[in-house]
Amino acid sequence: MMSYFEIRGGKRLNGRIKIQGAKNSALPVLSAALLSNEQCVIHNCPELTDVAAAADILSHLGCGINIEGNTITVDSSKADGYEISDELMTKMRSSIVFLGAIIARFGRAVMSFPGGCELGPRPIDIHLSSLRQMGVVIDEEHGKIICSAPNGISGVDIHLPIPSVGATENIMLTAVAANGITTIRNAAREPEITDLADFLNMCGARIIGAGDSIVTVLGGRPLHGCEFSVIPDRIVAATYLAACAATGGRITIDDVIPSHLWPIIPVLAEAGCDVTVGSGEVTVLAPERLRRVKQITTMAYPGFPTDAQPPVMAMLTVAEGTSVFIENVFQNRYRHTAGLSRMGAKLKVEGRVCIVEGVPSLYGSAVDATDLRGGAAIAVAGLAAKGITRISRIEHILRGYEKFDEVLSALGADIKLIN
Ligand code: UD1
Repeated sequence: MMSYFEIRGGKRLNGRIKIQGAKNSALPVLSAALLSNEQCVIHNCPELTDVAAAADILSHLGCGINIEGNTITVDSSKADGYEISDELMTKMRSSIVFLGAIIARFGRAVMSFPGGCELGPRPIDIHLSSLRQMGVVIDEEHGKIICSAPNGISGVDIHLPIPSVGATENIMLTAVAANGITTIRNAAREPEITDLADFLNMCGARIIGAGDSIVTVLGGRPLHGCEFSVIPDRIVAATYLAACAATGGRITIDDVIPSHLWPIIPVLAEAGCDVTVGSGEVTVLAPERLRRVKQITTMAYPGFPTDAQPPVMAMLTVAEGTSVFIENVFQNRYRHTAGLSRMGAKLKVEGRVCIVEGVPSLYGSAVDATDLRGGAAIAVAGLAAKGITRISRIEHILRGYEKFDEVLSALGADIKLIN
C-alpha cells in the first residue's frame, strides 16, 4: 500500500469522540459464533481489515455472513468446513483463535501455524498443550496443525504457565463442547476474556469466573443464537488519551467502560493530567507540559497493558524528566523507539527496559509504522511534534484503528490520509 499519513503537529486535541468496538474482543466473539449453530447478530464490530478477515474465514467455513456497518450477522447453521487455508491464515495472526472454535464445533481442525509477527516469536505451545490435555490429538507436520478428537473432548483441570489471552480463549471455546467441567487456573483476566464468556453464556453456555484467574466451564450444553454488542476498545481509548496528553489538549472519550482504563488512568494522573471519570466517559485535561512517570511496567491485566506501552511512551518523550518502561509481556516491543528517536526523542533501550529522557519538543520526520501499536505511537509523537510527520506503512495502524484520521481530525488534529 502506498498510502501514508501526513500530520502537521502542534495542534492541541480538543473535543469529544466515541470509542470503537474492541478488535481483540470482536475476533474471538466472531469465532465463537461458529458454536451457536444458529444466527448471531454481533454489534459494535470495528470496521478493520482483521475483522473482515475473520468474517472471511467464517464464510469459508460455510457460515452465512452479512455485514452492515458495525453489525455482523453470522449464521453458522450450515457451517461444514474445518480447515483454514494458508492464505486466510496469513491474513491475520489472531486466526489462531479459530482453532478452539472449529474443534468445538466439528471435533477436528486443520490450519497452518500462525508464524511470527512484528513483536517477535508468537508461540502457541500453551494453546496446543492445553487442548491435548482435553483429549485433542494434534499432529504438527509441514507447518500444519492437524487436530482430531477420536475419543471426544473432556473437561479437565488446566494450569496455565502464563496467563495467555489467546490460550485462555481457545480453552474456553473448546471446553464449551467438552464432556464435563473444565477449570482454567492462572487464566488471563483481560476484559476481552469476560466479553467472550458473556457472549458464550448468552448463547447458552455456562462459564463462571471469567475476569478472575480461575475460570470454570460446564461443558456439553446445547448452544443457540443471540444478539450481542462487543465492548469498547480500551487500547484505542488509551491511544487517544495519550495523544491528547501529548498535545496539551482536553478531550472526552465516550462509550467506554472506565474500569477497563484503570491501569492507564493513574499513569495519566502521574504525568500531571486532570482525569475525570463519568459514567461511560473519561475526560482528560493535560497540563502545559507533562511530567515524567517514574516507572511503567507492562503486565497481564489488570496490570498496565503492553498494547498501550508504545503510545504512552510517545506521550512521555515530551514530558519533563525521565520515565522508565519495563516491558514484561513481549520480547520485541520497542521497535517504535527508532522512529521516536528520529523525531528527536531521547531514548535508551536495554533488554526489557527503555529509559525515556523527556525533551521539550519533537520534530516532524518521515517514519515507517513498524507494527500496529508502534505505528500509533509514531502518530502520537507526530501530533505533538513541531513540523510535518509523514508516516508510511500505515496498513499496520489501520489494522486496529477505525477511521484513524477522521477521529483525530474531529479533535482538531491536522492529519491527512494521502493515497
Ligand atoms: C493478545 C492480544 C494482543 C496483546 C496480548 C497481551 C488479541 C488478538 N491479541 O495476544 O494485542 O498484546 O494479548 O495482552 O487478543 N505465549 C507463549 N506461548 C503461548 C502463548 C503465549 O509463550 O502458547 C507468550 C507470548 O509469546 C507472550 C505472552 O505469552 O510473550 C502473552 O501472550 P498472549 O497473552 O497469548 O497474547 P495473545 O493472545 O497472542
